[in-house]
Amino acid sequence: MSRPQRYYLTTPIYYASGDPHIGHAYTTILTDVLARFWRQQGREVFFLTGTDEHGQKMFEEASRRGLTPRELCDQMAVSFRAAWQELDISFDRFIRTTDADHVSVVTAFLQRLWDRGEIYEGAYRGWYCVYEERYWTEKDLGLDRTCPDCGRPTHKIDEKNYFFRMSAYQDRLIRHIKENPRWIWPEMRRNEVLGFLAQPLADLSISRPKSRLPWGITLPFDGDHVAYVWFDALINYLTASGAIDVDGPPGEEGFEDTTGSWWPAHLHIIGKDILTPHAVYWPALLMAAGLPLPAGILSHGWWVLGDRKMSKSLGNVVDPLELRGRFGTDPVRWYLLREMPTGQDASFTADRFVIRYEELANVLGNLASRTLGMTEKYRDGRVPDSAGGGLDPQIAETLARVSGAVADFRLHEALAGAMELARRANGYVEEREPWTHAKEEASDPAQAAKLDETLATLVRTLAVLAALFEPACPGKMRELATRMGLDRVPTLREASAMRLGGRRVKKGEPLFPRVGLSTG
Ligand code: MSP
Repeated sequence: MSRPQRYYLTTPIYYASGDPHIGHAYTTILTDVLARFWRQQGREVFFLTGTDEHGQKMFEEASRRGLTPRELCDQMAVSFRAAWQELDISFDRFIRTTDADHVSVVTAFLQRLWDRGEIYEGAYRGWYCVYEERYWTEKDLGLDRTCPDCGRPTHKIDEKNYFFRMSAYQDRLIRHIKENPRWIWPEMRRNEVLGFLAQPLADLSISRPKSRLPWGITLPFDGDHVAYVWFDALINYLTASGAIDVDGPPGEEGFEDTTGSWWPAHLHIIGKDILTPHAVYWPALLMAAGLPLPAGILSHGWWVLGDRKMSKSLGNVVDPLELRGRFGTDPVRWYLLREMPTGQDASFTADRFVIRYEELANVLGNLASRTLGMTEKYRDGRVPDSAGGGLDPQIAETLARVSGAVADFRLHEALAGAMELARRANGYVEEREPWTHAKEEASDPAQAAKLDETLATLVRTLAVLAALFEPACPGKMRELATRMGLDRVPTLREASAMRLGGRRVKKGEPLFPRVGLSTG
């Protein structure tokens, strides 16, 4: 058998200066749904997430709370991990930028760029936004010298810094983006980056004097400075790939050959706000280090409330875990992925949340209860041994639609396709009216065969639906699989080939109970 293809996919690492909120949850759930679809397709997946723990924002937030930066990031790493566990995120590694292996890889990376003449010493004069951890020039700034991204006040900086010769990579970057049309997805974001690169690209300040910011990774070539937080953060993707072995003999640390590791990443999933660091700084740094570039970047949109950005300072951030307490994990995952066309912005509203919840309850939940309920009632819980091919054309059409949508990163469309199949299966029940066959089967064996065929078709479709809904609703689909007498959720391939005749099923409680539907 050939080795399964390997897919390394990453979320951003989240600032450990605040609690997880809906924005973090969205990026992470999006990545999880994609990871689960890929695993369903038999791909070998390595899924990375984690926390970004250095930088000025962390340092300031810790002192505001009367904690050391280490205490604050330890607390927040626990809180992010707990959130991902509750949201059923199937990550393979949770990296922290304070992890020893990461500190070593960043140090080796810095040394390599220094040795290759990619870093020089200079003076930085400009403006800095602590919240975004980004440098701005005077002409970028908004009114009253505010940050053009978040509108918060910026600080003037005038100090010795080390710079990375990013400008030297401008042409190569433009060429790479033009030659690889799907490298940045969606196209609108690709055009944005090309627009940005049409202006002269400046070199990048990559350090801070410890006298101003003592919290960070020390430069190996100047002990009085720490690395700029974005420089440190981006390298997390390389650290976790296992490509760099800092203890290897000189020249064999892995910079020359990444074979056998997870590098290069297959896909970095990020929000639109952090496109420049990922699509400009990061590839330029990799080029300078002589490493291969990631195969792609998927940049998603933002959740807004009405037409306002959700942000902590506006006090309108929705806590996904609060919603979860009320509705359960899977409906939150379903809503976030089904409601937002992947790549675009979407508006968060309680009404839409309820509509999406009802869709789960009335279409999928209802189909599961009536299928399993009728099997219990008419066949004593035993799935009839019929071909059950009544919905095969609809199943084939759905599988093609879903796999096309996943390949194009249109996850909302993949989920819509799954729901459409459940709707059709409900339509099939109405058309076949199995209850009339049940009434007549005692006197007419032909009716018994029809009823068997209907039930077998429905159970078979339900197995396919369990696989199709698993990426978005993993917990509920585990429950459904158990009720169907399966020891786990089948993969798509298994579900479509599965023989279910003779299995014992159990209706159980509604999968999506009608509770607390008012969000008021
Ligand atoms: N630490 C950096 C990333 C470094 S990656 C090498 C960072 N962290 S963050 O905590 O601000 O989280 C960023 C992620 O959350 C981005 O993908 C961003 O788009 C996402 N979101 C934050 N608020 C959001 C919404 N309201 N809606 C959707 N996602 C948003 O940036």
